[in-house]
Amino acid sequence: MKAVSIKEKGSFENIQVVEINKPVIQPDEILVHVNAAGINPVDWKTVLNGYFPMPLILGSDIAGVIEAVGADVKNYKPGDEVIGSLQWDKQSAYAEYTATKEKYITHKPKNLSFAESAGVPLASLTAWQALFDHGRLEAGQKVVIHAGAGGVGLFALQFAKWKGAWVAATSSERNINFLKSVGADEVVDYTKYKLTDIVKDADVVLDSIATPEVQMESFKSLKKGGRYVSITSNIREELKKDFDIYATRFLFISNPDQLKQIVQLIEGGMVKVFIDKTYPLAEAKDALIYLHKGRARGKVILINN
Ligand SMILES: NC(=O)c1ccc[n+]([C@@H]2O[C@H](COP(=O)([O-])OP(=O)(O)OC[C@H]3O[C@@H](n4cnc5c(N)ncnc54)[C@H](OP(=O)(O)O)[C@@H]3O)[C@@H](O)[C@H]2O)c1
Repeated sequence: MKAVSIKEKGSFENIQVVEINKPVIQPDEILVHVNAAGINPVDWKTVLNGYFPMPLILGSDIAGVIEAVGADVKNYKPGDEVIGSLQWDKQSAYAEYTATKEKYITHKPKNLSFAESAGVPLASLTAWQALFDHGRLEAGQKVVIHAGAGGVGLFALQFAKWKGAWVAATSSERNINFLKSVGADEVVDYTKYKLTDIVKDADVVLDSIATPEVQMESFKSLKKGGRYVSITSNIREELKKDFDIYATRFLFISNPDQLKQIVQLIEGGMVKVFIDKTYPLAEAKDALIYLHKGRARGKVILINN
């Protein structure tokens, strides 16, 4: 089968399309034909900075069809259409087939294509866990979502509106009307304004930018007792010390129960998946270079023919 592999960190030129054997599954494993693989920034970070042990088949997000199940698998059968974010240290999504376990997958949304479905797992789970597990966002609260037009931001914006929150998103000018059409109550053009020129007394901030400047503005925008959640840089305690807020940084966890709830929102029409671009699997390098530019509006997806 075809797979996209990296042996050494440091350059997009190290990405290779290789021919390897199909995985052989263990009794608790599931063999999935990967129809589409979603790309996340951690994938290009892995290529450039070496996030995981190598050699490695890149990628964590899949949408596909189960081809075979091991004897101990209880809830899935061949032919089931599934999505999931694979085991973190194993990755292996950018391939024609992958082996995974029940605890990493759920059934695919019935109303989405495989390409759209592959954009769901990691980004939506991160947005969900940031807003609800770490941010404890409630109806009627005010939330700031940095990078509202990104893979995580677009899910976060829709989840926050579904919850009944007031949402301010940040973006450049080209995404302002788009984010308003998705439901943002306010969009702060970060190229022209400071966040606190426009937003004060927020209850929650979801920060996927988290430079020192953005972290400081975020702290200032929160009310006393507000909650700041970074999904990139650590909390700079020297900046935080003058603010009476809760601040945390976390790494998402693949959680099929939460993913199932998200699938229900998608099937109920409450949440849409926005695809910026698709590429054939063999063009993974170009897709990663594109996402690395940081301008994607929604998700970038690899398609397996
Ligand atoms: N901790 C975790 O578990 C976790 C999970 C998922 C992602 N992450 C991290 O979170 C970050 C975002 O992920 P993603 O998938 O959403 O990335 P992405 O899809 O690549 O984000 C692209 C978007 O970022 C926006 N953007 C770029 N610079 C911005 C700025 N200074 N202010 C506001 N918006 C800006 C762009 O909009 P404009 O063109 O309008 O600027 C673009 O739409 C990445 O660093 C990723 O590694 C962490």
